[in-house]
Amino acid sequence: MPKSRSYEEFVDKFKSEKTTGDCYTPPEVYDAVLAWVRDEYGGRHGVPIVCPFWPGADYGRVEYPDGCVVVDNPPFSILAKIIRFYQAHGIRFFLFAPGLTLFSVMVPGVTCIAADLNVTYANGAPKETHEHELETAERLRANGVRCMFQIDHEYVKGDDGRLVDRGLADLADGTELKSLHACSSKNTVFSHMKNASRKRDAVRVVFDNFHNRGMSDDELAKCLRHAQAFKRGTVYVINSDGILVRIK
Ligand SMILES: C[S@@+](CC[C@H](N)C(=O)[O-])C[C@H]1O[C@@H](n2cnc3c(N)ncnc32)[C@H](O)[C@@H]1O
Repeated sequence: MPKSRSYEEFVDKFKSEKTTGDCYTPPEVYDAVLAWVRDEYGGRHGVPIVCPFWPGADYGRVEYPDGCVVVDNPPFSILAKIIRFYQAHGIRFFLFAPGLTLFSVMVPGVTCIAADLNVTYANGAPKETHEHELETAERLRANGVRCMFQIDHEYVKGDDGRLVDRGLADLADGTELKSLHACSSKNTVFSHMKNASRKRDAVRVVFDNFHNRGMSDDELAKCLRHAQAFKRGTVYVINSDGILVRIK
């Protein structure tokens, strides 16, 4: 192994794991958003722009000059609180966040604009693709099930007192969505079940087999009946005809 590789591995051990709340905006994306905001809302170049969200910062104590506009990418876990703060203090703002986060923290008096694009954040945190989840939600809706997405993680205090990011179910009623694409492995299905069992509020899992060419509906159902994990909840499949079927 080359020397530099082992050095990088050594250094990597000391890097903390990034969460979606630590996603930094690439400068060129920030510039594009700011230019769009100025163009769209007719902001003059003299208007002070404030970016209050940085590690260790406290947005409540930052100075907001008269007439300023906050244009920034806030910590998503406290987005609703931030919005209410700006509303209460009459501070204008344009905040950006992942689409599903935006719509799960609807605050009266705020307009949400959903851009149809995926973003890779500057810290290299995994790109969040929700498109397949939205497609699965559409299929659930066609089966008469209402879907309300929620922020699918929470911050809890770990044993050492530090905040830990823990996963929650995709939907507010405790439904976890698993969309299968080219999945032919029982182990992958088992690990999806294990993953669902780790989500505190998950009470059911829906496997969407509609687009999966790796496993027939019968094979998937058999595999799910054998799975040991997630004994506390119910399991459904959306089959290749788009029909929702309860498996166990
Ligand atoms: C999504 S990141 C965006 C960082 C940066 N503004 C950008 O766009 O690249 C949100 C940042 O807000 C910071 N943050 C968390 N709580 C905060 C608070 N109460 N006041 C200000 N910043 C906070 C986090 O540490 C994190 O760096």
